[in-house]
Amino acid sequence: MKVRDYTPLMAKLSDIYARRSPYSKAIQGQAVNYLVDGGSHTLRLIKPFPPRIASARGAWLTDEDGHKIMDLWQGHMANILGHNPREITTPLAEALGGGFGLQTGFTDRLQVDTARILCDRTGSERMRFTTSGALATMYAIMLGRAFTGRELVLKVGGGWHGSQPWALKGIDYHGGVGNGYQAVESNGVPAAVTDQVLVTPFNDPERLRDLFRASGDQMACFIMEPFIGVGGYMPASQEFVQAARELTQQYGVVLILDEVIAGFRFRAGNMGALYDIQPDLATFGKIIGGGMPVAAVGGRAEIMELAGLSEGGSRAYKAARVKFSGGTYSAHPASMLAARTMMSYLVDHEAEIYPRLGKLGEQARRTVRDAFAAEGIYVHVTGGDGVLPGSSMFMLHFPFEPDRPLVCPSDCFDPARCDIPLCHTVLDLAMLVEDVFMLHSHAGISTAHTEADIAFLGEACQHAARRIKPYL
Ligand SMILES: Cc1ncc(COP(=O)(O)O)c(C=O)c1O
Repeated sequence: MKVRDYTPLMAKLSDIYARRSPYSKAIQGQAVNYLVDGGSHTLRLIKPFPPRIASARGAWLTDEDGHKIMDLWQGHMANILGHNPREITTPLAEALGGGFGLQTGFTDRLQVDTARILCDRTGSERMRFTTSGALATMYAIMLGRAFTGRELVLKVGGGWHGSQPWALKGIDYHGGVGNGYQAVESNGVPAAVTDQVLVTPFNDPERLRDLFRASGDQMACFIMEPFIGVGGYMPASQEFVQAARELTQQYGVVLILDEVIAGFRFRAGNMGALYDIQPDLATFGKIIGGGMPVAAVGGRAEIMELAGLSEGGSRAYKAARVKFSGGTYSAHPASMLAARTMMSYLVDHEAEIYPRLGKLGEQARRTVRDAFAAEGIYVHVTGGDGVLPGSSMFMLHFPFEPDRPLVCPSDCFDPARCDIPLCHTVLDLAMLVEDVFMLHSHAGISTAHTEADIAFLGEACQHAARRIKPYL
């Protein structure tokens, strides 16, 4: 392991950034008086202070200091059409002007249309909407536990499913490598819950088989991302997904594919289809909401119906009922309008959108690699391999030895293998002073990005690489 001291570089970058962003700095000064750390989502509170965004359109943001920033973070990867696309904002503005959009407390036909598209495109028999990915995965796990009558929940080490009690184990990205992702990354969560969570390594079918042999008959559900997001931007291998499907079927365990990132990202539908498997349940969020807070759980009717009040069920069935209910803002009218508009647009333009995104993604990966290589820095770019030859998602990693592939979070977060501070802290700021925004080296191309934007990214990478090089 090489220990590199980036303290002087970070001080230099912070100074450049602070001098060019006095308004954002001043707002942060006020923000910490009212908001914990100055905001409501830790990831957005980058150091030394976040750029405060004044407006956003397409691939670009404008901050309070007037900088135009090319954005590759795009609303936590929700904005596949870029920021505030007219395809979504026009119908929303018309609806609001015409007396439809804020919460009514009733239900409407829009919700039916939206659910129909989502069911059709994901092979789900029934849907229910909620407002965040974390709630969706929590409800999916509750459904899996109720359906099987079992306690144990299996998840992947480094798999992020939102901040909810069953999902906060195995997400200590930096400490996880040493402890096999067995730690719980939050106070306030009952041990009675986290003790029921088992953790298995990503893309390791053999270990998965061992775990099922040992505890499969006590497991309620296995939740996994087909494209691991926070864990390093890597698709699950065909073998891993296949093993997950076969083992869950063999042991009567509910397979939940968490497609909050992956859904509608690589095709106008679920990613599970790329593996030719159908999970029992799937969770969706981000893109499907068209920039509004929409998430969903979908899947087999006999499991989903546990969320309902169906008349015909037996007493035992009713006793298994899951309170996937409440939610003042669930299936909010404006959100459903944005969701229906977004998904219809992606379905109608699927044949142009996804190949173009894949091509730009490939171009971006190549451009980034070349830009760093020109300064003698090896960067490993994940996001576009396995079942995803054409992917709009990419993440930069800086392994000390270039020859070994990165296939799971413990590869990417191992400080003996990869330069973690460079990937997770230094690069973000080095790029931001070049007017490109990436978060923890995560990036996603939207349809609003152009080849000129990719060239701009290349130049920014080269400038950042020049700044970083003396500290390696
Ligand atoms: C795969 C996955 N599942 C669930 C979530 C949680 O979604 P939300 O942030 O909407 O609660 C996320 C968020 O990044 C995610 O990437």
